[in-house]
Order: sequence, then C-alpha cells, then structure tokens
Amino acid sequence: MPKEETGLSLDGQGKPLWVSLELTYRCPLKCSWCNNPLDFEDYGSRELTTEEWKQALREVRELGALQLGFTGGEPLLREDLEELVAYADSLGFYTNLITSGIGLTEERLLALKAAGLKHVQLSLQATKGELTDALVGARAHALKLEAARLIKAHNFPMVLNVPIFRQNIGEVDAMIEWAVALGIEYIEFANIQYYNWALMNRDELMPSLEQIKAAEAVVNAWRAKLGNTMTIYFVIPDYYEGRPKACMNGWGAIHLTLAPDGVAMPCQEARVIPGLEFISVRDQPLGWIWHESPLFRKYRGLDWLPEPCSSCSEKEKDFGGCRCQALLLTGDAGNTDPACSRSPLHGVVRDAVAVSEKPLRFRKPLVKRSAGAVSTAFMEA
Ligand code: FES
Repeated sequence: MPKEETGLSLDGQGKPLWVSLELTYRCPLKCSWCNNPLDFEDYGSRELTTEEWKQALREVRELGALQLGFTGGEPLLREDLEELVAYADSLGFYTNLITSGIGLTEERLLALKAAGLKHVQLSLQATKGELTDALVGARAHALKLEAARLIKAHNFPMVLNVPIFRQNIGEVDAMIEWAVALGIEYIEFANIQYYNWALMNRDELMPSLEQIKAAEAVVNAWRAKLGNTMTIYFVIPDYYEGRPKACMNGWGAIHLTLAPDGVAMPCQEARVIPGLEFISVRDQPLGWIWHESPLFRKYRGLDWLPEPCSSCSEKEKDFGGCRCQALLLTGDAGNTDPACSRSPLHGVVRDAVAVSEKPLRFRKPLVKRSAGAVSTAFMEA
C-alpha cells in the first residue's frame, strides 16, 4: 500500500522497529523525574500475565519488530522476566534490559544470559552514595555499583544511562572518571524529559543553561582525552534547543510501547492525552491497533500538522515535535510542540527556562514518586 494511503513514515516501512515493553510500573525507587504515570499504583492488578505477554510478543514479531526493551517500573520485579526474555529470544528478537540494577543478582544475570539477553542499560545518578540514595529515595547506590560490576564481569554490552538534572549535573566529571575505571564503553548523559513526575518537579529539576554548557564542556574534554575508547552521549534538553525533538521519530512511525496492562501506545506518555481511546492487546489484535486504530492514526504522518509546522521546511525532520509535550504545556496535543521557537506558544518554554535561573534557596522540596504523593503535592501547592 503506498505511503499516502497509510500515513506511515517511510523510516520503518510501516513496522514498529523499536518496541518498549513496560512489564510493570512497580519499582523499589522513588525518583522525582520518573516518566511513569502519576497514578502508577492503579496498574498493579492489571498487569498482563506471562502467557498474555507471550501472545503480545508473537503479535509484535508478526508486525516485523526486531528490537525489544524490557522496561518498567523495574522489570526485574517480574519473576517471569527470564522466561519472557527466553521466549523473545526464541522468536528472534534482539533483547535489551533497561534497569535500575536493583534486584540484579549474579544468579539472575546468569539466568538472563542463558535466556539470551543481549544488552543491558543500567541507570546511575551519582558517584556519591549519599547523593544517589537521596535522589532515588532508597539505599540503592551500593546495589547499583554492584550491578554495574556484574554486568561488566559477565561481558554484557552495556550502556550506562545517567539521567541529568540540576541536582546531579555537577557529577558528570566524576561519573566519567568512574566509568573509565570500570571499563564502561558507552555512557549516556540524558537531560531528563519533563513529563509526569518530572514535569511536576520541573522548576526544581531543570538545570540552568550555564550548568548545561559547563557539563557539555566537561564531556567534550573527556571525549578529546578518551578518543574511541568510550562513546559519550550528551543529550541537551529540548527546552534549550529552540527546535523540538523528533519525538519517537514521528507518532506511530517506528515506535510501539506496550504498557503493563497491555495498552498499545505510540509513546510511553500518550495516556496523558485526553479524548483518545487506548486499547489493550487483551481486547484487539495488535496488528489492527498499530495499523488501523484511531489512536495510532491520529498524528501519524504529516497531513495533520498545524501551522506553522505544515509549511515549515523542517517538518520532515521533527514532525512538529512531541504530542504529549504539546498537550502538557499548551493544553492541545495537536499544537506545535512549544519547544519550537516558531511555536506561537513558545513563551511557556521560555518561562520555564527563566525559572531554572532562580536561586536554589527559593525552591521547593522534590516530590518523590510514591502512591498518594500527587494529591499531597497539590494540596501543598
Ligand atoms: Fe508522547 Fe512525545 S512523549 S509523543
């Protein structure tokens, strides 16, 4: 079927090339920048069973997907993780575990290796134990370091993912030094995206432009020193870029997320958008959801774009930016992402950046991810 009839981006030739399996929203940590839903605790009893996940994996494979990210929450909280990885491996998927490292014992790592797991992405927030533990709201630092050591010792390809925000941006130098000592080859400093918990804490979490420039200079100095021995990614927040990110490479183009309850979405945040029908793989075949459902067709392709995007020369690069960010910051998911300086509503982003320049002493404590925290935070606001 020609592209014009399906509205699909050409990149994936109509296939979801990159699939995130959110096995659970349960997590032992309480990160204030978590992108899970604010009502994450409501999903515990609705998680897909092992057999339902296997059925979903077969359907994802039939759609042509090859790469899977097992994520959460903390996917290690699912006791069937090894079984699901083995099943995915038997279907021919390249499997990636995205983990905080909490619960990653040597026994489980070996079981995951035997199951065919190909790659691990481990998150770490700081080199100092007190800082990590304070940020994630648990005694996690030592467990994370041990997880990193085990992953390296068992020769897994690994990316160290460091979410970056105001409270830990000064750790970049020490973090690279520590990663060099451990022989880590890929490190990603990902300035956090502001959705859900992170958006609630945005005024406290967002670093200033000066801090970002200083951190990037540190990264560049290490890149020059290390050459090809380590790849260091440093992702700038889109609030500072003046152009929106090509979120998910376009809505419904190459990315598919399956939430713990089996709801299929074009991105991990899509349920923030009101007025859309979210369908679980329990209720409809995934092929129909991906190709035909109103949710996936809503913002697919370029025909729906508003001005100024529809006449913009960059529309095939950024697809108008992020739908969820447009909703959260402007109240309408169909608007141009206000991260773009050409958006008539770019002022909301400029205002947020201005707050990040305020002195720390005027700031509020971070709201930690936890059941009931949202209502408490709004009562205090
Ligand atoms: Fe949903 Fe960007 S996070 S479209």
